[in-house]
Amino acid sequence: MQGCVYNFIQPWETYRADTSIDLKRHHRMETMIDKIAFWTVKALRAPTDIFFQKRYGCRAMMLETVAAVPGMVGGMLLHLKSLRKFEHSGGWIRALLEEAENERMHLMTFMEVAKPKWYERALVVTVQGIFFNAYFLLYLASPRLAHRMVGYLEEEAIYSYTQYLHEIDCGRLPNGPAPAIAIDYWRLPKDATIRDVVQVVRADEAHHRDVNHFAADIHEEGKRLKDFPAPLGYH
Ligand SMILES: [Fe+2]
Ligand SMILES: [Fe+2]
Repeated sequence: MQGCVYNFIQPWETYRADTSIDLKRHHRMETMIDKIAFWTVKALRAPTDIFFQKRYGCRAMMLETVAAVPGMVGGMLLHLKSLRKFEHSGGWIRALLEEAENERMHLMTFMEVAKPKWYERALVVTVQGIFFNAYFLLYLASPRLAHRMVGYLEEEAIYSYTQYLHEIDCGRLPNGPAPAIAIDYWRLPKDATIRDVVQVVRADEAHHRDVNHFAADIHEEGKRLKDFPAPLGYH
């Protein structure tokens, strides 16, 4: 029953994605940190390309379980820092937690498209155990590198979702009706399709790219996040 999932999402948690956002924006590598971040992401992309091939629905479902981690870790660490130092965060705690929630909604959407098999669930549990701890330690050691890596990861996500759209347009992947949860969350028309969903998800990823490159830029200049207003209001 489409359009009736407000048990899970409250109307004020829904929003319209900004699909006019620049999808091509790329942070040019200048510093060593940029290079480490970029090539680490490229190295991580290679095995996922081999594993998923052109199964973009499955790929999206699996990778969103990872994508929803950095915002929560960063938000949590900034939250603890705010408590420890008796200082405001400049809205960055909320911005990063909003990112985590937005990514989790991507997962809630794509699990309607591709159902996880038992071995995929096992893989997700293993990867989460490793990735959560690795990102936690990385954020403690270098929040600048952590945000830059996420910025580049999001650039890859935009590329993957563009390929997903291409496969739909070529008729190689099905373009069925959008899941009800997606119609509510992004306020899509009732007859929206998977293609419409992929488009709004891709716009979300472009927003995360900009937020994380911005955070990395602030650190790069030796400044503090809290002194720059966080890009808030995005779900
Ligand atoms: Fe996502
Ligand atoms: Fe993202």
